[in-house]
Amino acid sequence: MRVFPDRKLIPVQYLLQSQIDCLRRLLSIESNCLISGYELRRLSMKVGPCTIAALALSLLAIALASNRSSGQKLAVIALPSPAATQPSEYAGLHNVVTYAEGLYSGSVPQGAEGFATLAAMGIRTIISVDGATPDVELAKQFGLRYVHLPVGYDGITKQRSLELARAVRDLPGPIYIHCHHGQHRSAAAAAAAGVTLGKFSVDEALALMKVSGTAPNYTGLFACVRAASVASPETLETVSNKFPEKSQIGDLAQVMTHVDETMDNLKLIEKANWTTPKDHPDLVPAAEAARLADFFRNAPQPKEPARTDEFAAWISAQASNASEVEQALLRGNASPQQVSEKLKIVSQACVQCHSKYRD
Ligand code: HEC
Repeated sequence: MRVFPDRKLIPVQYLLQSQIDCLRRLLSIESNCLISGYELRRLSMKVGPCTIAALALSLLAIALASNRSSGQKLAVIALPSPAATQPSEYAGLHNVVTYAEGLYSGSVPQGAEGFATLAAMGIRTIISVDGATPDVELAKQFGLRYVHLPVGYDGITKQRSLELARAVRDLPGPIYIHCHHGQHRSAAAAAAAGVTLGKFSVDEALALMKVSGTAPNYTGLFACVRAASVASPETLETVSNKFPEKSQIGDLAQVMTHVDETMDNLKLIEKANWTTPKDHPDLVPAAEAARLADFFRNAPQPKEPARTDEFAAWISAQASNASEVEQALLRGNASPQQVSEKLKIVSQACVQCHSKYRD
């Protein structure tokens, strides 16, 4: 991943740099002209500071003029076509799909580069449906507002669907909804909100989720979209319009109780040969593994003295291990024994970490 060297640059400077970068790429006949800032210095060595200054000033003038006339942000990066059948990739932003005019779904913005891309697309509000605490401060540097309305892999409650729809209706657009990968939860959230607002039908929503690559295994995510229907303005007014920037995720002990519960579910699934147990029809194997990965990925800091690099590395390794269990279940190409082997690595880590840092 490429990272901007200076986090303090204001967005318009990023835009100018991206334009210069685009020009540079065009001159060298590179096809993929995406935003990027760090090659400015190399370019200025090639063509000289005066040319750069002239270019920058003319672009600044254009940026300011268009800002004043429309009151909107300057959109210099095109969003995906609504007719696209594949998700689009951008600098610091993956799996981007257009759900409706002004409503987009994709991955978490990766550092300043991701937020710069969103700003250059003209996005004004970001809704995270992921378990992770959003980087509200960094988003603000790009003039972007954050709303955090997390949802699970097992589906979106009616209440949350209405909250998402109200946020999409009431907050300044265009709106970008993201989870971690932008494949499953953000797709379902954009789909449910769009149906609730009458932007598209349930069938169209399901087709859009297919473009995002939502795995059929996540039956709960599809079920809540199938169950969605257009809500009246009065119904939308029944849910909160507080739209929090950060939702509480609890301390490590709380997260661990969820980890424990998810691990118990996975053990029941394992006993049923990695299928949904008969006496627990609500359990979706891949969804439980994804949930476990999410808890580890987003686990808050432990209390001192456990706050060490080793601890952090241990936690993040379990996020990857649980992700591998999820991927194996999604692809369906691993034997039950192989999946069990992967889960065993996580079980062993629970014991090892507790004996060193907890017990
Ligand atoms: C990298 C370290 C680490 C790993 C891995 C880890 N834990 Fe923990 N766990 C902790 C620490 C530290 C605490 C104590 C938290 C506190 O009390 O603040 C804890 C607490 C707990 C608790 C007690 C929660 C409570 O109510 O106080 C449970 C249950 C638990 N872990 C389950 C698990 C399970 C199951 C796994 C594996 C799937 C796991 N943990 C993996 C570090 C870890």
